Amino acid sequence: MIPEEFIQELKYHSDIVDVVSSYVALRHRGKTHSGLCPFHSEKTPSFHVYPDTQSFYCFGCGAGGDVVTFIRRIENLEYVEALRFLAQRAGLAMPEDVRDDGSARMKMRILEINRQTARIFYENLTSPGGREGLRYLRQRGLSDKTIRRFGLGYSMPGWDTLAKQLRSQGFTDEEMLSAAVVSKGRNGSVFDMFRGRVMFPIIDLRGNVIGFGGRKLGEESGPKYLNSPDTPVFKKSRNLFALNFAKASKEKGIILCEGYMDVIAQHQAGFDNAVATLGTALTPEQCRLLSQYTDQVLLSYDADEAGQKATRRGIELLSQIGMKIKVIHIPDAKDPDEFIKKFGAQRFRMLLEGSSNATEFAIARIREKYDTDTDDGRMNCLKELAAFLAEIPNPIERDVYQSRVALDLGISKDILGAQVASLQKRMTRSRNRKEDADLRIYAIKGNGTNPGGINELQRRNNMKCAVAEDKLLGVLIRNPDYFRHIAARIQPEQFVTDLNRTIAQVIYRRLEQNLPVDMPSLSGELEPEQMSQLSRILLDASGIKSTQQETDDYIDVLLQNQNKPTPQQIGAMDDEQFREYMASLTAGKR
Ligand code: GTP
Ligand code: MN
Repeated sequence: MIPEEFIQELKYHSDIVDVVSSYVALRHRGKTHSGLCPFHSEKTPSFHVYPDTQSFYCFGCGAGGDVVTFIRRIENLEYVEALRFLAQRAGLAMPEDVRDDGSARMKMRILEINRQTARIFYENLTSPGGREGLRYLRQRGLSDKTIRRFGLGYSMPGWDTLAKQLRSQGFTDEEMLSAAVVSKGRNGSVFDMFRGRVMFPIIDLRGNVIGFGGRKLGEESGPKYLNSPDTPVFKKSRNLFALNFAKASKEKGIILCEGYMDVIAQHQAGFDNAVATLGTALTPEQCRLLSQYTDQVLLSYDADEAGQKATRRGIELLSQIGMKIKVIHIPDAKDPDEFIKKFGAQRFRMLLEGSSNATEFAIARIREKYDTDTDDGRMNCLKELAAFLAEIPNPIERDVYQSRVALDLGISKDILGAQVASLQKRMTRSRNRKEDADLRIYAIKGNGTNPGGINELQRRNNMKCAVAEDKLLGVLIRNPDYFRHIAARIQPEQFVTDLNRTIAQVIYRRLEQNLPVDMPSLSGELEPEQMSQLSRILLDASGIKSTQQETDDYIDVLLQNQNKPTPQQIGAMDDEQFREYMASLTAGKR
């Protein structure tokens, strides 16, 4: 356990406004500071920091908590790691007896291995055995400056050249396996993961080497590209190649493309706002990451079928979070790298500037599918276009494209408009039904993909109790002197909603042990989602005094709910019992 005094000391040295300011531009209005939420994408600030309670809360996405929760969320750290992070920042030494599963130490070792490995790969380019790698990169048109900037390198063709070098630097096989720079053979021996490939280090936003991609030089067997698997420091789904450069680019928007070589060719040509996914399909996490640095993404995928599919996915995911999207068609070349080589940077900039937007792209794709010279083709095409137009949320944009499609296919704009409107009505109805059904499924299965879902449904179904519980928790934190009185009347097990019950259990236990129940102390025992709930509660309670009488009223609400028989029980009552039950209801109202 971490000593309570240390947490208090750390809290004192980690002012939440200071800490958050290094991630979010905060504007200060009265007692609170606000800015754009770093946990979801938005255009108007709904993220608030409260110096008085040392907490934050986002009215847009519901994220909230204390300074430790903030660091856990934004740096993606476990509790102890977040404390260590803040301690380092404040110049405090972590107490020695902290129980640590060693994961933080392991991450440091892996990052160190990765850094050394990148250095070795880079130096290989100029060593006698690695000339081939350098020749390959030059033949692909990369300048020495570009090679240095991206830290490109070469992995020697031998079975364990790298393993031996790292071993001589004091790294164990175990550590190398965790970093995934080596693999284990059937006989238990360790061999290099990348052999005879040009190497692309993947660097995160803090400048750490977190993984590698490697391309084979010629037609030898094996996959064209080999990427590091996920490791404790590398999650493919959460990183983008070259975002470390692109995030500081002066160019407008961020260009999203498929491959390492495309990104590097674009940077070399002056488009240093290009990034790529790492050999996988675009993920929602990557979209959120992009939205922290730009409001516009230029999709610059390959011209082939796979590229078109990736473009559709990109449009879908990015538009869900309100990003502006442009689609770049690359004519007469298979990818941006080839286009720049064939036609130069000037022409590429023209492509970027003339790129069509997502809606135009989608309409053109639908048009292509049908032969609109035949009546049948025209009918079917119109049907699909109407369905597509109905999905456009912005009415002005919808109107513009409606006119364009009507003109294009030679039908009256009013008829198309009526068709679209009726489709829209039908869609809204079925969407509402589906959302209710989804919530019900979450409630039954507790589906992990929507952690808020089950709690929200529970709250909705027990609104009165949920609110009373919120208030009680607020009282317990702000007026711990009421604890004895409250605990004599109600126990956490009698709380109705799961989320509040869990929080209550922790607070009760701490108060029984005379431990503090402020946010920083609680963040050691509660998950970020529970901290969010807590900061919402404290926000609602802020500036309001709670009297003993009010506290008793909240408890009454919960107790009444306990005694309430289920409909089945009411059905099974005999006349006598039913009369008594009715009498108790009237008495309760007084
Ligand atoms: P070259 O120009 O031929 O070097 O490749 P490219 O950049 O045009 O890449 P390509 O369009 O073939 O592939 C795009 C991206 O998909 C690459 O940058 C890799 O991340 C990934 N990729 C390509 N081939 C493979 C493969 O064989 N295995 C894996 N895991 N990923 C691959
Ligand atoms: Mn290519």
